[in-house]
Amino acid sequence: MSKSSPIFTCSTCGTVHKKWQGRCDGCGGWNTIVEDTPLSSGPKSLGAKGRSIPLTDLATEEAPPPRAGSGIDELDRVLGGGLVPASAILVGGDPGIGKSTLLLQATASFARKGLKCLYISGEEASAQVRMRAQRLGLAQAPVSLGAETNLRDILTTLDAERPDLAVIDSIQTMWLDTVEAAPGSVSQVRAAAHELVTFAKKRGVAVILVGHVTKEGQIAGPRVVEHMVDTVLYFEGERGHQFRILRAVKNRFGPADEIGVFEMTGGGLSQVTNPSALFLSSRDTPAPGSAVFAGIEGTRPVLTEIQALVAPSTLASPRRTVVGLDSGRVSTILAVLEARCGIPFTGLDVFLNVAGGLRVNEPAADLAVAGALLSAREDVAIPPDMVLFGEISLSGALRPVGQTENRLKEASKLGFQQATLPSRSKTSGAEDMKLREMADLTAFVGEMFGAG
Ligand code: TYD
Ligand code: MG
Repeated sequence: MSKSSPIFTCSTCGTVHKKWQGRCDGCGGWNTIVEDTPLSSGPKSLGAKGRSIPLTDLATEEAPPPRAGSGIDELDRVLGGGLVPASAILVGGDPGIGKSTLLLQATASFARKGLKCLYISGEEASAQVRMRAQRLGLAQAPVSLGAETNLRDILTTLDAERPDLAVIDSIQTMWLDTVEAAPGSVSQVRAAAHELVTFAKKRGVAVILVGHVTKEGQIAGPRVVEHMVDTVLYFEGERGHQFRILRAVKNRFGPADEIGVFEMTGGGLSQVTNPSALFLSSRDTPAPGSAVFAGIEGTRPVLTEIQALVAPSTLASPRRTVVGLDSGRVSTILAVLEARCGIPFTGLDVFLNVAGGLRVNEPAADLAVAGALLSAREDVAIPPDMVLFGEISLSGALRPVGQTENRLKEASKLGFQQATLPSRSKTSGAEDMKLREMADLTAFVGEMFGAG
């Protein structure tokens, strides 16, 4: 590639384009493509002979690397059982969601467990971090603080200090003097992350990179570095809700999709060990339009309330407002209700919401969504002691879902006495609950709301 031809890179996902365009083909983001300095194309040919690298067998006598627990169970579980030495972890999230707070608390916990920890802030002065630590009651934790954005200086420091864990807050503020681009640009973020990850592997230092999710195209988002690191965690939460969810979307050392639930309080983040109770705690008296879904997040059962409101519409194409669920999935359920059960939603506005700000991605939520929709439309409340789950197929049949026993056990633990679920589900060990097994959606409608 000649030096004069510029390239254009998406600042969200890193896809390279030949020319500028309004929408990225890679991630579908609008106005995220920026001009970028091309990376060097490398040596012209592999003419010279390389060294042959030593090869080893898969079998090993060595024990797996010991994981370091932080003592914050919700965090350790998301990490797959603790921090793996020499691993690279990315923690992404919206600005202001609480990433710095979480990582300061985590670093302090690791330090108290005997790990040598370094916290490098590129956004705040050391005094600011210290003030926050004081507010969180962590001032006594043996954490070394640094405020720096020059990566060369940071790497030199890390090399001299050799900590067990280094937190870099945030990767978008770091810059390398060898890269001719502004801090936060795709090439800087990628180069800085590459240097840090390579350093982590070579020197046996675990690094945690903080990445801001950005809506505009000016600053590169964390997706640019997702493929370089071992573990990707996203810190999510709805503004206005105090719940924060730490979700593993990629983990080379543990199950992905695991979640940790936290609550933002005046004294920082506190862990929520029983999220089901939390998500249901604000439940109103049984009202039409509410259904409790027994779901699984990662390896853990979590009960959530799905709320629906159905009202006559004045619009030519009625509203379908969905929060916390996949709207395509909801449209499918509406279509199945109409086509297989003869219950139309034409001329009706539909609003759906998962209470508490959780996002539910499981197909197992189909039946609870259908239940909430029907309950709202027919103005009939679902019994308050009932949970629902099951996948709805396009034919209107109900399909059993995984981990039925876990779902029922969690529901029973929280005082629920009935469950509506697909027939042929594996229900051993749930003798204390009244199970209503249904083969298809028509049977469900008939039983719950009276046929027709
Ligand atoms: P912060 O960790 O700075 O967010 P990020 O690093 O992701 O940008 O968190 C900032 C928010 O957290 C801020 O709006 C205030 C709130 N917060 C509390 O509610 N309680 C606390 O004890 C702390 C430290 C922050
Ligand atoms: Mg921050």
